[in-house]
Amino acid sequence: MQTIISRIALGLIILFFNTIFSFAQNPTQLTINTTQHDVVINKNIYGHFSEHLGRCIYDGFWVDSSINIAKKGRLRLDIVEALKKIHLPLLRWPGGCFADEYHWSDGIGAASRRPKRVNTTWGMVTEDNSFGTAEFLELTDLIGCEPYIAGNVGTGTPQEMANWIEYLNFNGKSSLSDQRRQNGHDQPYKVSFWGVGNESWGCGGNMTPAFYSDQYKRYAAFCKNYPGTSLKKIASGANADDYNWTETCMKEIPGDQMWGLSLHYYTLADGWEHKGSATHFSEGEYFKAVKKCLFMEELVQKHSAIMDKYDPQKKVALCVDEWGIWTDVEPGTNPAFLYQQNSMRDAIIAATTLNIFNNHSDRVRLACLAQTVNVLQALVLTNKEKMLLTPTYHVFDLFQIHQDAYALSLQFASPDYTFKENKIPAINASASKDKNGAIHISLVNTDPHRSIDISTSLDGFQIKSISGLILHADNFTDVNTFEKPDFIKPAVFNTFKKDGNKISVQIPALSVVVLEIK
Ligand code: AHR
Repeated sequence: MQTIISRIALGLIILFFNTIFSFAQNPTQLTINTTQHDVVINKNIYGHFSEHLGRCIYDGFWVDSSINIAKKGRLRLDIVEALKKIHLPLLRWPGGCFADEYHWSDGIGAASRRPKRVNTTWGMVTEDNSFGTAEFLELTDLIGCEPYIAGNVGTGTPQEMANWIEYLNFNGKSSLSDQRRQNGHDQPYKVSFWGVGNESWGCGGNMTPAFYSDQYKRYAAFCKNYPGTSLKKIASGANADDYNWTETCMKEIPGDQMWGLSLHYYTLADGWEHKGSATHFSEGEYFKAVKKCLFMEELVQKHSAIMDKYDPQKKVALCVDEWGIWTDVEPGTNPAFLYQQNSMRDAIIAATTLNIFNNHSDRVRLACLAQTVNVLQALVLTNKEKMLLTPTYHVFDLFQIHQDAYALSLQFASPDYTFKENKIPAINASASKDKNGAIHISLVNTDPHRSIDISTSLDGFQIKSISGLILHADNFTDVNTFEKPDFIKPAVFNTFKKDGNKISVQIPALSVVVLEIK
């Protein structure tokens, strides 16, 4: 009994000193230049990815007709509504690794006549092709977002890729455009974002960068711009820090032949062999995962520097079209389906990564989180009729104010978040000015123990009003469940003070805050 009382007393003393220390610390000085802004944060940085993998498409977006929820055909409308609310701008499909074994003509016409194939990448399950081109484009139409299709270089031919584009985008008379009309779509779909292969260094064909660059040029040459739709062709880019891949593609592929070059990077707390649980992890694993996520900053900087050498005018976009945390699957689920829960750690990782992209929006103009529903760092999880919005979803909700706003530059020196003998920056941030002149600042405190005071100066701006929203949880392992779907959700944030033309803010431990300043 005595031990318990003394532990409680010790806890209270530590809490008291932490609080005193936190209020007494010198605030971090954050300066934002509000007058110089040439670069727009392309809304497509807030894009997403949906693959024929596990329960993302089948039993995710596309459900059995017997499920008793609002649907259009077999498309789940509760998911559509949730994605519309965050203004999801772009959706990539059909893979991923699946893209390089997908033959588009399997997925058109009457569903009953579509062939059944094996999804050899993701669990050897039967792919019945009931979700194909028309269904994907109906989905993007319902969400109101741009489709981004990844074409098949691994097992497809340039002719097959060319035919798909003609089927989609040609308005004149041809057998393929007539086939589209017979399948119920009179007008061309006008798909412009076009991936030429996926992970061609790995599941897309184990190519060398030189071989891929030649393949890219060959396939891309037959990806035509039909009247009314100019393609934005995206080359399959590097795996994480494979800078040689970027160097070779930039050297070998003329800039006017590619709109973008991709980059894939997944946050793995402890490498591919020990990804760790999505929900049961220690502070050590939390710290490592946030540190790994921060590596995106170095990746973007170094890949951009290589691109700058060949393309100083930054015409070619860096497209981080797969990113997010990858953990072990939830116990009891199919290991090939990559179903993972989503905790407050995921929210910190999403917000930190989006801040990095915003701050590099001169080069990063498209990105896709993997993957929208029921796979990896998902926005939405479903269980039969039930659906929940993950902490990551709420980050995209809070950050949507940055879409298509002008990026503002900011200067600050972050205090450290220290774990044992290791340190990472506790605070990361980005800022933008929207078309109405409102300023938005997104701030992340990765430190799970300490709130941090920030004094913000807005150079060249008269502050009239400030409002804020916060996403916070007490524990980095906290999650939303089907029983408690709103356990973590945004709340009004008002721990700030206007002080002349400065704003003093206290950012609670483990939180994401977005301020709106008018
Ligand atoms: O997102 C899951 C897989 O990760 C994708 O199919 C592939 O491109 C990447 O390796």
